Amino acid sequence: MRPAAAALAALLAVSGPAAAHDAPHASAAPAVEADPLAGRFGGPFALVDHRGQPVTDRDFLGRYLLVTFGFTHCVDVCPVDLAVQQQALDQLGTVADAVQPLFVTVDPARDTPDVLAGYVAGFHPRLIGLTGTEAEVAAVARAYRVHRRKVALDHPDAAHLREIAGAYIVDHGTLTFLMGPDGRFLTLIPHTTDADMVAGIVGRYLPTH
Ligand code: NI
Repeated sequence: MRPAAAALAALLAVSGPAAAHDAPHASAAPAVEADPLAGRFGGPFALVDHRGQPVTDRDFLGRYLLVTFGFTHCVDVCPVDLAVQQQALDQLGTVADAVQPLFVTVDPARDTPDVLAGYVAGFHPRLIGLTGTEAEVAAVARAYRVHRRKVALDHPDAAHLREIAGAYIVDHGTLTFLMGPDGRFLTLIPHTTDADMVAGIVGRYLPTH
């Protein structure tokens, strides 16, 4: 998806479901059929978690998923988004127990389970890091329509960044996806959304009892 289209899609998704929740005591997720983006993001995946255990999308059925793509050498976007999510889930309190945050690497060559384990430990205690073969990661990125592009840091101007990020970075899509307990797409959370807003967006979908 091109950035402009992604931004538009994000606006649609974030503003769309609000009306459904104006109804008092609305505790069920809004009908996904009403969302113009329903079915456009997500799908089956087979990956390995940060403990080295094989996992598939089916292992997470029954839970809400917050799916973020990124890589551990990312210097700005990924750590900020994961920290904001952690804060938002904390704000939501016990209702957020239904949410499983996932961090899917776009850089499987460097992000082994061990590397991911060290990384996710810095964020929400329930955060699970996911990696896999290049083909497995390519498949999940395609399913979520997340672009990823390796950019070599071989230009002299990139010397400082290279010290932190290594030989390359992976330019990647920065939308976070909220998926329902049935595995279907619910909404998008754009990068730069603050913790209050993330809590508000996610909270609208969670059953209150
Ligand atoms: Ni990143």
